Order: sequence, then structure tokens, then C-alpha cells
Amino acid sequence: MDERQIILVTGVPGTGKTTISALLAAELGAEHIELTRLVKESGFSQGWDEARATVIADLKALRNALYNILDNTTSPLIIDGHYSPDVAPRDETTLVIVLRCAPWVIREKLLTRGYSPRKVRENVEAELLGTCLADALAVQDPEKIHEIDTTAQTPEETVMLILSVLDGDVKCSHGTVDWMNSPEAEVLLREL
Ligand SMILES: Nc1ncnc2c1ncn2[C@@H]1O[C@H](COP(=O)(O)OP(=O)(O)OP(=O)(O)O)[C@@H](O)[C@H]1O
Ligand SMILES: [Mg+2]
Repeated sequence: MDERQIILVTGVPGTGKTTISALLAAELGAEHIELTRLVKESGFSQGWDEARATVIADLKALRNALYNILDNTTSPLIIDGHYSPDVAPRDETTLVIVLRCAPWVIREKLLTRGYSPRKVRENVEAELLGTCLADALAVQDPEKIHEIDTTAQTPEETVMLILSVLDGDVKCSHGTVDWMNSPEAEVLLREL
């Protein structure tokens, strides 16, 4: 019997985790688990981070809830959230997608969302430095981590690419995105 697919989708806010996960789930007939929503709806928080204006997730409770879902469903799963590499079981994970998007584009998206200057800056810095990739590499199998720059792609193109990686037509790879050497990064760093 084929093992069911468990696909993690990580990336900083605005890279398109939820947009891509929803489309991918529809393509694969998978269940889409949005971790930030699960944290909010189930009260898996350890408090409120005033400075960041965000809830502090209780990762232990989130992990337990996720394991419960894994035990009670046989459908493929798309786990959407930047905590996903931390809470999903490494051995059962099929693929980890790290979505990247040019930090200057992320900046505009998050400003449009009305995020505070501090929250925008932190997330732009995280994208510049590739923090979500580093976090995934720290806990998941590097050979299962695939990085995608979505800046010049439509969500549909990104989903097609993920399907090709799953089929083995595109080699799973990471370490391909580097914003630091682009001229735009220099301008951005001066503004931060
Ligand atoms: N290639 C692309 N892939 C994904 N989203 C894209 C792409 N191009 C543009 N977008 C747009 O970027 C936005 C991404 O928002 P989305 O809510 O999916 O991000 P997110 O990573 O889930 O953020 P959060 O961490 O806040 O939940 C959407 O408005 C989407 O339409
Ligand atoms: Mg989302």
C-alpha cells in the first residue's frame, strides 16, 4: 500500500502558503490543515505577544492535535504554516515546500495588510535571511525540502511545479534562492 502523502507548506506571511495549500489540496483530494487557524480556533496559545501583535502558539498542544488528526484520517494532508516543520512527524513527511517571495514584494503585501512596521520589518528580514528554510533544515530531512520562488509565478504555476516534484519529474532541491546579492536588497536594507 502506498503511504499517504503528508506535504508541509512553510514560508513567511504573504508568500502564499494558504493560497497554494488550498489549490494543492483540491488537486490531490487532500485535507488542508491551516495551523494558524487551528491555533486560533482551538485556543492552542500560550499567550499574546504584545510587541509582535500575534498569539504565541502552544506547539506541544498543536503537535498533539495534529497527531490526533493523523491517527483518525487516511486522506493525504497538506499542512500549511510556518510551524509545520516543527510539529509534523519527520518520518511520515513526504515533502516540505518552502515558499519564497522577493522581500521587497513581501514588504508591500504586509504593509497592505496593515501589519505594524515592526512586524513588517521582522518578516522582511526573515525572508531576506531564509529563516523558514533554515528552520525546516533544522528538523526535517533535507532531501525532502523543496524551495520555490513564487515572485514571478501564478499560484497555479506553483502548484503544477509541486505536482512535478511529487511525481519525480522535477528534482527536489533547496538553496536556490538568494536575495542578498540583488541590488533591490541593498535598497531594502537601507530602508529597514
Ligand atoms: N505565485 C503565488 N503563489 C501564491 N500566492 C500568490 C502568488 N502570487 C501572488 N500571490 C498572492 O499572494 C497572497 C498570499 O497570501 P496567503 O494568505 O496565501 O499567504 P500566507 O503565506 O498563507 O500568509 P499567512 O502566513 O499570513 O497565513 C495572496 O493574495 C495571493 O493571491
Ligand atoms: Mg496563511
